[in-house]
Amino acid sequence: MATDRRPENMERIVTPAQAEAFIEEQVAEIRGQVGDKKVLLALSGGVDSSVVAALLIKAIGQQLVCVHVNHGLLRKGEPEQVIEVFRNQMKANLVYVDATDRFLDKLAGVDDPETKRKIIGGEFIEVFAEEARKQDGIEFLAQGTIWPDILESENGIKAHHNAGGLPEDMKFELVEPVRILFKDEVRVVGEALGLPHSMVYRQPFPGPGLGVRCPGAITRDRLEAVRESDAILREEFEKNGLAGKVWQYFTVVPDFKSTGIKDDKRAFEWCCIVRAINTTDVMTATVENISYDLMCHITDRITHEVPGINRVLYDFTPKPTGTVEFE
Ligand code: XMP
Repeated sequence: MATDRRPENMERIVTPAQAEAFIEEQVAEIRGQVGDKKVLLALSGGVDSSVVAALLIKAIGQQLVCVHVNHGLLRKGEPEQVIEVFRNQMKANLVYVDATDRFLDKLAGVDDPETKRKIIGGEFIEVFAEEARKQDGIEFLAQGTIWPDILESENGIKAHHNAGGLPEDMKFELVEPVRILFKDEVRVVGEALGLPHSMVYRQPFPGPGLGVRCPGAITRDRLEAVRESDAILREEFEKNGLAGKVWQYFTVVPDFKSTGIKDDKRAFEWCCIVRAINTTDVMTATVENISYDLMCHITDRITHEVPGINRVLYDFTPKPTGTVEFE
């Protein structure tokens, strides 16, 4: 039986040696819990599920079945990185499902933010459950639950997403090998397991993905403009030493066009909003002071490289009054 609660006197894991000790302990616990049975994991490519995957691959290898659902709302290069790291490098048993059309068809014409979220969450569970049913002999479900999730659900702050709302008839025993860790410890363990730094230290990314950064009804062309502008912003933050420093940064492309000029012709196109914020608890946030020169360079790149964008704006709004995301 895995350790359920974080021991009061547990030292914070900060060094590779501490991480190695934790990994060894967990590998033994996982093997004891799972035996020769199969374990299923929804692998989003986020920090927690990636570290859980790497731990389970080390402990039980091919007995782990990872399912990566691409809902079409991931950032540029993300599904490719999951395949490269887990299938090609770690030799994981990885099922990759490109469900882009399914999600975007369901979302077509839907402009209410909460309805969009519900469709994305509901469809995700449906796709995952379908893949789970195709697998024989799964008895366990692995999850990237971490210690703050447990504390927050105990304190009634948010419901713990246990078993992610799978259908009633799908009952699995849970495997939660990082449930006693804080986020910073999960990252240290992830690096010790050989995961890329960019994966382990990536900025927070919402479950509904770029869907909440394409306000109103999502269209494929505007979603592509969000994805491409986000990739440019990330590249520039990386190059300019802001990537590990700024908490969260992204672009938003609202469904609104304005007049501009491209190649000496009238260009009636979208604007792209850049948002970059810092926070400690996400309840409040302040705006990053990006240099004028860097903002001009980012604007130049986005307006010239991303089809459909003729203006770039910077969001100066702290939280409150704005939330981090636009929807
Ligand atoms: P807000 O917009 O509420 O965002 O100020 C606070 C943090 O939460 C993230 N966020 C989400 N994460 N599902 C998620 O997994 C969601 O629906 C969602 N909405 C917001 C947001 O990116 C920020 O880090």
